[in-house]
Amino acid sequence: MEEQKEVFQMPRIGDQAPDFKAMTTTGMMQFSEHIKGSWTILFSHPADFTPVCTTEMSGFAVLEDEFKKMNTKLVGLSIDSIHSHVAWVNNVKEKTGVFMKFPIIADIDMKVSKLYGMLQPGESETAAVRAVFFIDPNGKIRLIMYYPLNVGRNMDEIIRALQALQTADEHKVALPLNWKPGEKAIVPPPKTIDELEERLKSNYEMVDFYLAKRSL
Ligand code: BEZ
Repeated sequence: MEEQKEVFQMPRIGDQAPDFKAMTTTGMMQFSEHIKGSWTILFSHPADFTPVCTTEMSGFAVLEDEFKKMNTKLVGLSIDSIHSHVAWVNNVKEKTGVFMKFPIIADIDMKVSKLYGMLQPGESETAAVRAVFFIDPNGKIRLIMYYPLNVGRNMDEIIRALQALQTADEHKVALPLNWKPGEKAIVPPPKTIDELEERLKSNYEMVDFYLAKRSL
């Protein structure tokens, strides 16, 4: 008979980010307090002292100032002890010069991993998958990425997705396939006949009334 795997509730896009208190490499954190008023990227990695994770966490560390300029805090997590985290952060700094200054949650009891659906037993019962939660300044989850243990994430896409979310909010637009900053945005389709007529007279770049783009 096939073994039953534990199923955890997973937060979804549009949900308030679940709150928790946890030990991190920069001290105790009440998550809701820490993230108040800024964007937050909460991301998990499977284990300290592993190669893919080291490349990814270093990638976040190298771009931490870029994220700061975008009013975005970084918070890492893995199911490792605080001692392991501290030793790993120090080792990476010594060996590569890259310093992970952002807090990394020591989720040794798996409390936060389970709360955020980062523990996906079909992939691993003991290590968090590579999850990325984009949380807005109101504490709402806006975008979620999950990667398996054996595939590293793409920092360019993480930055692009954050830029897209912030741009969509600022200009009340949607953003098309492969959108990058500087490119045109989608104007929301008309919802009334009057809006449709106005749209047809507009100067927008238009395929038809429902697919129109404008510069920002
Ligand atoms: C890694 O980061 O290299 C890794 C961690 C867990 C499983 C597989 C790879």
